[in-house]
Amino acid sequence: MEIKQVGVVGCGQMGGGIAQVSAQSGYQVLVSEVNEELLNKGLTRINASLSKAVEREKITPQDKEAILSRIRGTTSMKDFGSCDLVIEAAIENLELKKKIFAELDSVCPEHAILATNTSCLSIIEMAMTTKRPDKVLGLHFFNPPPLMKLLEAVRTVATSEETLEIGRKFGQSLGKTVITAPDSPGFIVNRLMVPQVLNAIRMLEAGVATREDIDNGMTLGLNHPIGSLALADLIGLDTMYFVADAMYDEFKDPQFAPPVLLEKMVTAGWLGRKTGKGFYDYKKD
Ligand SMILES: NC(=O)c1ccc[n+]([C@@H]2O[C@H](COP(=O)([O-])OP(=O)(O)OC[C@H]3O[C@@H](n4cnc5c(N)ncnc54)[C@H](O)[C@@H]3O)[C@@H](O)[C@H]2O)c1
Repeated sequence: MEIKQVGVVGCGQMGGGIAQVSAQSGYQVLVSEVNEELLNKGLTRINASLSKAVEREKITPQDKEAILSRIRGTTSMKDFGSCDLVIEAAIENLELKKKIFAELDSVCPEHAILATNTSCLSIIEMAMTTKRPDKVLGLHFFNPPPLMKLLEAVRTVATSEETLEIGRKFGQSLGKTVITAPDSPGFIVNRLMVPQVLNAIRMLEAGVATREDIDNGMTLGLNHPIGSLALADLIGLDTMYFVADAMYDEFKDPQFAPPVLLEKMVTAGWLGRKTGKGFYDYKKD
């Protein structure tokens, strides 16, 4: 099956990035949001990201215009009726994702593949709300999707070989290295990364070290490109919390239990870079 039209549900950090990298690779893209305001915000973020790429001479101004002309926004799920592949990138909430999958199943053509960018939730549960569980898989991008080179293709027990292969080829067409993971919480990368970030938060909470010393330890001692607390801010502390909580719920392993400090910061609305405050301050002034 040839993929021409890609749909993306949600134009937040990840959905916007997935829409951008798909359009950059020549696909026609339709991206949805819950209302016009959030849609405009998401499309403006894509525009800004492409302007940055022009400034850095990664693409030309003409490329930018061509990429933008391939991205269309909508607030109606019905518009996904012309998509060959839809990637869901709404917030990390299983009940919401199940509702979105049921709706996508009713509006998308029979041949369409439905994917989720979930970080850790059960993909088979989303698949079972559709009449095509064999055509459902995870396509787990990393943040920010236009820059990060990895894609996890996640197969459930019901995903067909053909669907997995189409998903893997799609990822490769975006220039990604694709690894195949099982539908088990956190897949491969988050199962490694989440305990490490949570341990950094616990160390800060227990007063073992300052945020700078923890992050310098990771960057200068282990050569990680970004410290664990800065990484949590980049991911979004709400997403970090949802992911840890869902993994703890599934594995009942204390290494995945969200630390109290993380929970309090999310309650305070300190969600990291996206709100300007997390473990670090990102306000412009
Ligand atoms: N942030 C990361 O580093 C990261 C990395 C990999 C995967 N993910 C996963 O990607 C998904 C999105 O995360 P994010 O960081 O982009 O979150 P985000 O909060 O930045 O964006 C989510 C967007 O989805 C929109 N949305 C909610 N319900 C919707 C609906 N019914 N239709 C259309 N849009 C809807 C919201 O308005 C919001 O703009 C989550 O499942 C998350 O676990 C996140």
